[in-house]
Amino acid sequence: MFDHFDLIAGIYDRVMGPPDTERLRQVLKLPTDGWLLDGGGGTGRVSSYLNNMVGNIVVSDLSQRMLKKSREKDICPVRAHVERLPFADECFDRVLVVDALHHFCNQQEAVEDLMRVLKPGGRLVIEEPDFNHTGVKLLALAEKIAMMRSHFFTPEQIRDMLAANGSSVKIEKDGHYTAWVIADK
Ligand SMILES: C[S@@+](CC[C@H](N)C(=O)[O-])C[C@H]1O[C@@H](n2cnc3c(N)ncnc32)[C@H](O)[C@@H]1O
Repeated sequence: MFDHFDLIAGIYDRVMGPPDTERLRQVLKLPTDGWLLDGGGGTGRVSSYLNNMVGNIVVSDLSQRMLKKSREKDICPVRAHVERLPFADECFDRVLVVDALHHFCNQQEAVEDLMRVLKPGGRLVIEEPDFNHTGVKLLALAEKIAMMRSHFFTPEQIRDMLAANGSSVKIEKDGHYTAWVIADK
């Protein structure tokens, strides 16, 4: 099946630029010696910058070409649906999802499986465009026109999905367009 991310994998890191490492360090409560899972982590554009702050990094993604790019970095790529992760229960200390939740096939199932692989005492952080804002609604429309399988949720809806899994959840917002939903298990 046609995959939009296979198509743009070659230029993805250059177009998106590096992440805000200090913000990630703070929301993920780093450093830790444990393992971090980057769900829908693509090329590893974000998590590869956390290498010196965590024990090991696993990037799980569906796009072969995005994952191929991640092999150039010091992280472990795994091709898998985040809705059906090939990992044992409670094996990651941190789970990160950046700008990917709205691309997943089933957000509810993804959240449940991401929480399943998180250790008790661990933290899951989801960064998403804030669907309360008009600019993000326009982005959603553009992705629909481009026939991407996007399904946006507000940060409050994501919080409720995570809270239903029994975790303590908070939302932090950056400027107008980005929200971080942070769940402690
Ligand atoms: C916008 S990219 C974000 C990549 C990375 N998190 C970043 O910020 O650089 C979204 C990624 O989600 C992946 N993806 C979409 N649906 C997925 C699924 N069901 N399971 C795993 N990965 C998925 C895509 O292949 C793509 O690499």
